[in-house]
Amino acid sequence: MARSRRDPAPRWTAVFLLWTALCCLFVPAVMVKHENFKTCDQSGFCRRNRQFADTAAATSSWSSPYTVDPTTIAFKDGELHATVVKTLQDGVQNVELPLTVTFLDSGVARVTLDETKRQKGDITLRHDSKARKERYNEAGKWTLVGGLKVADGAALSEKAEQGYTKVFYGDGSKHQAIIRHAPFGIEFQRDGETQVKFNERGLLNLEHWRSKIEKPAEEKKDGEEEKKEEEKKEEAAGEDESTWWDETFGGNTDSKPRGPEAVALDITFPGYEHVFGIPEHATRLSLKTTRGGDGAYSEPYRLYNADVFEYEMDSPMTLYGAIPFMQAHRKGSTVGVFWLNAAETWVDVVKAKSTANPLSLGTKGHTDTQTHWISESGLLDVFVFLGPTPQDLTRQYGELTGYTAMPQSFAIAYHQCRWNYVTDEDVKDVDRKFDKHKIPYDVIWLDIEYTQEKKYFTWDPLTFVNPDTMGKQLDKSQRKLVVIIDPHIKNTNDYPVIDELKKKDLAVKNKDGNQYEGWCWPGSSMWIDCFNPAAISWWKGLFKYDSFKGTLPNTFIWNDMNEPSVFNGPETTMPKDNIHFGGWEHRDVHNVNGMTFHNATYQAISERKKGELRRPFVLTRSFYSGSQRSAAMWTGDNLAEWSHLEASLPMILNQGISGFPFAGADVGGFFGNPSKELLTRWYQAGIYYPFFRGHAHIDTRRREPYVPGAPYTEIITQALRLRYQLLPAWYTAFREAHTTGAPIVRPNFYVHPEDERGFAIDDQLYIGSTGLLAKPVTKEGATSVDVYLADDQPYYDFFDYTLYQGSGTHTVPAPLEKIPLLMQGGNIIPRRDRPRRSSGLMKFDPFTLVVVLDKDGAAKGELYIDDGETFDYETGAYIHRRFAFDGKRNVLTSTNAVPVGAKATAKLEAYLKSMNKVRVEKVIIVGAPKTWKGKTEAIVMEEGAKESARKKTIAMEFHSGSGKSADWAIVRDPKVGIGRGWKIDFS
Ligand SMILES: *[C@@H]1O[C@H](CO)[C@@H](O)[C@H](O)[C@H]1NC(C)=O
Repeated sequence: MARSRRDPAPRWTAVFLLWTALCCLFVPAVMVKHENFKTCDQSGFCRRNRQFADTAAATSSWSSPYTVDPTTIAFKDGELHATVVKTLQDGVQNVELPLTVTFLDSGVARVTLDETKRQKGDITLRHDSKARKERYNEAGKWTLVGGLKVADGAALSEKAEQGYTKVFYGDGSKHQAIIRHAPFGIEFQRDGETQVKFNERGLLNLEHWRSKIEKPAEEKKDGEEEKKEEEKKEEAAGEDESTWWDETFGGNTDSKPRGPEAVALDITFPGYEHVFGIPEHATRLSLKTTRGGDGAYSEPYRLYNADVFEYEMDSPMTLYGAIPFMQAHRKGSTVGVFWLNAAETWVDVVKAKSTANPLSLGTKGHTDTQTHWISESGLLDVFVFLGPTPQDLTRQYGELTGYTAMPQSFAIAYHQCRWNYVTDEDVKDVDRKFDKHKIPYDVIWLDIEYTQEKKYFTWDPLTFVNPDTMGKQLDKSQRKLVVIIDPHIKNTNDYPVIDELKKKDLAVKNKDGNQYEGWCWPGSSMWIDCFNPAAISWWKGLFKYDSFKGTLPNTFIWNDMNEPSVFNGPETTMPKDNIHFGGWEHRDVHNVNGMTFHNATYQAISERKKGELRRPFVLTRSFYSGSQRSAAMWTGDNLAEWSHLEASLPMILNQGISGFPFAGADVGGFFGNPSKELLTRWYQAGIYYPFFRGHAHIDTRRREPYVPGAPYTEIITQALRLRYQLLPAWYTAFREAHTTGAPIVRPNFYVHPEDERGFAIDDQLYIGSTGLLAKPVTKEGATSVDVYLADDQPYYDFFDYTLYQGSGTHTVPAPLEKIPLLMQGGNIIPRRDRPRRSSGLMKFDPFTLVVVLDKDGAAKGELYIDDGETFDYETGAYIHRRFAFDGKRNVLTSTNAVPVGAKATAKLEAYLKSMNKVRVEKVIIVGAPKTWKGKTEAIVMEEGAKESARKKTIAMEFHSGSGKSADWAIVRDPKVGIGRGWKIDFS
């Protein structure tokens, strides 16, 4: 869900629904409401900083007014402290800014700049504001969970030149930070080459505190003229005061009690042509430039979590979530920055002819990417990553903000949602229809209409009469229910939840310190303030089984509207001068707000009754860096249009490299009715979303997979079965994400970081480390797709083993019933081939291993499994196997991938015992050597088997491929345990 328009008063709902039902007989022209959202020019601090940048660029003698006072520099225990002085234009007064540069053990550097006067609270707020006086310094408290160990080895360079301070750090002291004193700037080098530059263009701008000087009202007669003159002068000096003290947009006025307080910095990546990251935007993976010109954007990328429904394609406009982590990539190197700031942020991206030494960059690195980061408030707090690989970046960023949570196994299967399944009988009927059509699914979802008048934690007594019975029917096939719970609490009589929220004083406050009241789905509402620990404790209580009656252990939660969406608020969200727990203005915390809410829900459902410890599942719409620790996300309210299907791929790939890989888009498109072809293609693409859910708006026609009929239903069912068949591969990819920060679906540059031609490719993806390469069809009427192969390994069609080989583009047939999916040679892919109704019913099913030989006849792969439900895996209760096919000896082996020395706990013993009978039922060798022709036997050896059973001969079949398809061999039922070591000798 959710929005389409302001919710009308409840009694009008019926009329309204009838009206919209009639309307949707015609295709409505839907488009984002641009006028609801600010452009940079309408956002005072963004405009001021762009003006500042323009002034700097236009001034040949521009010199940044920031200098390091060399007498203040102190270096101790991996941390450098100094005072940066900002010289004001009057040339008399100066502003003191404490600088800290921390060199972390991981090789990452962190730069923070604060403002002494605000830090000490030595300022006065306007309008009797009760807000805190400091620059917001708690973004890290919500975001950072590790990786902060300071490097012992970091050291000041002994032969620092006059005017510079140099620090060596990182593994083998390969990294160097060169701090220039006047003007202040930092260059970050790796192996003597500059990779990242701060303040090279002199755009550092920390708007210091000042008191408002009330100007006498201008005289009427020549006032206008004078004012214009004045403005011109100010603009030239980069000091446009018109937006310092208050700002009005769309009828809402922001009182700005602390005046201007933006923080901005230019960051240059010399020799880097591509930058990726900073989700969430409906744009390409390789970010476009933002200051106009051919095909470029003219607005900066904006990060200000907002309910932007019916959002537009190919746009730097803000969306629901924000991750201010950017990676720059070129052949041989990936570097990046993480801009830790929770306020509204804008990022300009410009590409320029490189100033870097051409010799050190090889022939291609002739472009610099220049970025300009602008936040409304808070500290300057930036982490710098020097790579050199994309894997280093995702790992180090993950160390700081946390790796993605290990989901329950049902959570990576198929989810069926719509706004709304209207009664408990409707839910049960949909459940039966899936079974009747033999279509697998794991989870059915309820949007807001299940509640009694939008009061969360209640059921509509007329439509959801027996939620218990409904939940139990789902549980019979191990299926789950997800219900929506939003952060706005209906402000009404006779609702204990709002009474408690008010009485315990746990709601967000307005600028006057009273509980803030706004408008959302339920009408008048208040918002739980999850920055308050007491609010989290209270929230947890609401989910207990005896409190949220009618929910069962198979009920999980969807958090929507947590940007937060406020229908009558500025830009559909909260006023920035609202106050949160701790006295922080909403302005300071806006982008982390949604995360504190879904994290509270995660805590709440992790233990709904004492001792019941299972992995929670929470879906969130709003997110920030760190959200991956407690939620999955989806890309919000998209449209049933081909362009939205297409855009979902780069968006999800971008989530993956930005540390929040458990991502999906509404399959079928939320608004509007997809054609049967579009719906089918969307399922064929959706099976590659880490989070895979079909969803639809209340005004759309039903579109469950069994609805479209022949041949579509059958084709969609095949796609769903393919997802279920590959669940072992997906689960293994999640494990890798959980332990290393690697994306679950991966773009070409991440897998082939040396392949320049593939850097910008964002319409095909690799699944984990499996070598599975998918190219979803996103064009109407397509009968083939062009797949780009970066390397010269053989790639085989997943279904018929057709061979594609040679780096470059290959045309792969893709009629409607065909899903373009290739297997890269060199990989072993685990599958479970038996069709079931849900993933829970596959728990003890046997495995198939597909061994795809590389050009040298070898292959390797992994499988991770655990109970899929509890936290026992944390204490070692899991199976992790490594498979390898030795191309010289023609032997396939299964060895333990669990780290040597890991403890054999009782829980592990119990788990292994439960899996004792689970075996490998098929081994398929794709690209089998011709010399195997005529062979009919292979030899199996299993460790721990009885002497007599240790070595046995089993039948093998060899199949010659026809035309372009490969030879393959198969061994059926070698009877080897999935949890044990074994060998199969094909020689
Ligand atoms: C998540 O909840 C835990 C427990 O209440 C808390 O310690 C942590 O700070 C929260 N994190 C976020 C991001 O809200």
